[in-house]
Amino acid sequence: SLLDPTTWLVGGVLSLSALWWLSTRRPSGLPPGPGLALPVIGHLHLLSSDLRAAFRTWRRQYGDVFSLYMGGRLVVVLNGLPVIKEALVKMADVFSNRPHMFIMVRITNLKGLVSSSGALWKEQRKTALEILRDFGMGKNVLAEKIQEEVTHYIRAVEDHHGAPVDLSTLTQISVSNNICSIIFGKRFDYDDPTFIGYMRMLEENMKAIGASAIINYMPILEHLPGDLFKVKLVVSRAMKFYDFVRQQISEHRKDRSQHTEKTDFIHAYLTQGEQLAQSNVENTLDNENLQNSISDLFVAGTETTSTAIRWTLLFFLHYPKVQDKCFQEISDVIGSGRAPSMQDRPKLQYLEATIMEVLRRADIVPTAVPHGLAHDVMFRGYVIPKDAIVLPYLDSVLNDPEVWGDPDNFRPERFMGPDGKVTKPEEFIPFGIGRRVCLGESLARMELFLYLATLIQRFRFLPPGQEPLPSLEGIMGFTISPAPFKVRAIPRY
Ligand code: HEM
Repeated sequence: SLLDPTTWLVGGVLSLSALWWLSTRRPSGLPPGPGLALPVIGHLHLLSSDLRAAFRTWRRQYGDVFSLYMGGRLVVVLNGLPVIKEALVKMADVFSNRPHMFIMVRITNLKGLVSSSGALWKEQRKTALEILRDFGMGKNVLAEKIQEEVTHYIRAVEDHHGAPVDLSTLTQISVSNNICSIIFGKRFDYDDPTFIGYMRMLEENMKAIGASAIINYMPILEHLPGDLFKVKLVVSRAMKFYDFVRQQISEHRKDRSQHTEKTDFIHAYLTQGEQLAQSNVENTLDNENLQNSISDLFVAGTETTSTAIRWTLLFFLHYPKVQDKCFQEISDVIGSGRAPSMQDRPKLQYLEATIMEVLRRADIVPTAVPHGLAHDVMFRGYVIPKDAIVLPYLDSVLNDPEVWGDPDNFRPERFMGPDGKVTKPEEFIPFGIGRRVCLGESLARMELFLYLATLIQRFRFLPPGQEPLPSLEGIMGFTISPAPFKVRAIPRY
């Protein structure tokens, strides 16, 4: 009877099971993947401990294209160079968007460089690239600015007189100063409280954004009382950073009359916008896109590069012979009488191979930046719906045993040809590939070369003492970064 509690119990269990089944069933045609997606959280519970281990297992089980549910969102993971290339290069018209993700929408309104798509993204990217190229080439203004920044950085490292020190904040601040030079036309002193305040805030936000990423997949959690997942905090910090950027833009606007030529990114961008407006060309070079593009360059260009520098130091502590070899090469080519410059780069092939090995082994941006689709697509026999999030899993290429043989070993020699020159295999893709490939790759390579060549020339890096070194596994956040560690930077002369 209807009043019988057993009927209710059986009915309840059956309905719950039906709901469960409906929520976990993968519609046919989708790429295969782990079964049993839980209601609401999908497969998130399987990713909590080690994303890389889970992805590797699923690639073995399901092949180079697999899918999973993060919360309610379908995520398609692309593995191995052939698949990633087919999507991002051959089918670039379909695979070059960014997906709508809750936090990105909140912060960027999908404007600017990193989270925009379509015609808007094309114009912002083309503009930014042209400006950066203008600065990088010709008189090589960019290299000179970075060299000047490196001089300040080296002095600050020297101030520790070989005592154990964690160089993360100093490195982060120095690297962000390069972005300041490019964008604002000025660097800030390391003890400028306003600048340090903003850079610290940015750094803190990068850490917090890992914790709040879950909201992208389960936006409903935002409504929990308090700010458990730090979404409000992350968004409000981003807005404060926009205020700082807007203030710099309006200062630039005030003295436009003296700066019609391209003295920095803001002036170059404003000039371009004015020229387009004068010729009545409809364009997207407005204040909001400028503000977002600037913030994107800080976010994308600071933690990545400074993390790569920290990784190099940690690898040097684990592999002192590599450090010795880099130093020997610099001694032979440059000596100690002058600072390294970009002209030395072709002659420092072992250092070049070492930097490549750091970028390969450390795998700083393992899942690239999520991609989105222009429309539903058939890919390698599977259906991928338009609203899926596509992750080009760079780690599946950079650390694939099939490609490298011994991917876990830190061995710069793998990039050296028999003639002593660096060779660049097609699988070396730490900056991604295709139309969305890292926009700052040449800037990053220039920075890494100048910082590291100078650091190695001036200091010998040693472990702080007897305590064990942090592992080379790294911590997953916005980037994979080494756990905090100290080094002793012993002056070479
Ligand atoms: C995007 C890596 C430094 C600016 C990316 C992507 C990767 C990457 C993997 C995603 C590509 C994709 O979506 O498929 C790195 C690494 C760096 C580095 C490993 C340093 C070691 C920089 C620097 C800048 C920069 C110094 C700028 C000043 C950008 C921008 C994007 C991007 C703007 C988004 C491009 C777009 O959406 O069109 N980077 N990056 N990156 N990077 Fe970098």
